[in-house]
Amino acid sequence: MYTNEEIRYKYMKYAKLIDQYEKLPEQLFFRKRRQRLLQHASGDVLEVAVGTGRNLSYYSQGCTITGLDYSPEMLNEAMQKTDARHQPIRLIQGNAESLPFEPNAFDTVVSTLATCTFPNPIQALKEMQRVCKPDGRILLFEHGRSRWPILGRIQDNRAERNADIVGCYWNRLPLKLVQASGIQIQSVKSSYGDFLVEIIGQPGRSV
Ligand SMILES: C[S@@+](CC[C@H](N)C(=O)[O-])C[C@H]1O[C@@H](n2cnc3c(N)ncnc32)[C@H](O)[C@@H]1O
Repeated sequence: MYTNEEIRYKYMKYAKLIDQYEKLPEQLFFRKRRQRLLQHASGDVLEVAVGTGRNLSYYSQGCTITGLDYSPEMLNEAMQKTDARHQPIRLIQGNAESLPFEPNAFDTVVSTLATCTFPNPIQALKEMQRVCKPDGRILLFEHGRSRWPILGRIQDNRAERNADIVGCYWNRLPLKLVQASGIQIQSVKSSYGDFLVEIIGQPGRSV
């Protein structure tokens, strides 16, 4: 497991290349799922681990967006995507596991392709619940270990190597993590045996 500082260092090296490296999976697998999920975002939106800002163009113009990431270099890349939008976007450096916001601050909390990277994903998911209004929405799009045997085994075999590059453990089980965090799940869309999952939820009652 890598610490936040080690992950930050990895993304420092990777920030300028990641959009290019992931162009194909973005086009084939991610784009339409981001679009489908983010149509449910409204009001004051917090995007946790905003990365290079690949979701930014999918929010409706009515949303006010705050993007947070641990990596200043990733935020720099995201900043370059903000010009295309009419409304200002606030970008903040911070830690998903201790979000610098008051409880119930946001109508929608979003995180995509990031529970694989957080050193303590359950703590990050609890923080998302804390800062989301009780009747707000939590929107997650994640990748995880596939139940398809061959794909799952390939993921297990390459997990350490993959994590070594960007700190991403692609054989975690995001749905189980979300359940363990206490998020009340309202809908799940799964593809390729849970390799990709889109989750719509609300903060759990005990948070
Ligand atoms: C694979 S990228 C995903 C970026 C973006 N969400 C997307 O969908 O393209 C993972 C991101 O998580 C960020 N990250 C990792 N650990 C973090 C933490 N503890 N707090 C905030 N951001 C973190 C990394 O800096 C990186 O930008």
